[in-house]
Amino acid sequence: MTTARTALVFSVVAIALAATSYFHGRPVVEPVVEKAPAAMDPEHAGYVPGLGEIMTMQQMRHAKLALAGAAGNWDLADYETDELGEGFDDIVTYHPTHKDIKQPLTELVPQFTKQAVADLRDAVKAKDVDKFNTAFDGLTAGCNGCHQATAFGFNVVLRPTTSSFPNQQFTPAK
Ligand code: HEC
Repeated sequence: MTTARTALVFSVVAIALAATSYFHGRPVVEPVVEKAPAAMDPEHAGYVPGLGEIMTMQQMRHAKLALAGAAGNWDLADYETDELGEGFDDIVTYHPTHKDIKQPLTELVPQFTKQAVADLRDAVKAKDVDKFNTAFDGLTAGCNGCHQATAFGFNVVLRPTTSSFPNQQFTPAK
């Protein structure tokens, strides 16, 4: 081997070794990606609430909304109206369709709830009990209308007459 060739082989090996140790020792830097919380990102969600589970939450919010309205607690009524709206959004996000239901939930949810939720927002903003009661009955009719439309008509929603929440105050906080 000529001296020049030896030198060339040497430098190639040296560069290869240097590169190997450089990349090997290099810390793996994870790209910083803003991620939505897992539960809000259906593609990466570890847990997706079932439709029946979201409905049970809606049932609770529906009851609390009635109790808040009856007690003139408009802050709580406003909060529960928002929560109901978010629950309906979750249904559309997580269950755009359902194996036992022909019509997509992306259509059914707005069809049966959009107007009622808007009416509730108006009534709560106006702190108007009569408007609130009418809007609340509209919401309840929407719940039941959708249950009938989806062959879950045996599941009948009512305006509650008493509180099922002994640990929560429904009159306005002082
Ligand atoms: C998009 C149509 C639709 C709307 C709107 C709707 N529901 Fe439902 N609801 C369903 C379907 C479908 C089920 C059955 C889900 C399942 O078990 O997979 C259900 C189930 C339920 C259940 C049974 C849950 C259980 O496990 O006991 C309750 C309670 C309920 N809904 C309450 C409500 C209330 C309260 C509202 C209105 C605030 C409402 N739903 C609005 C379609 C709807």
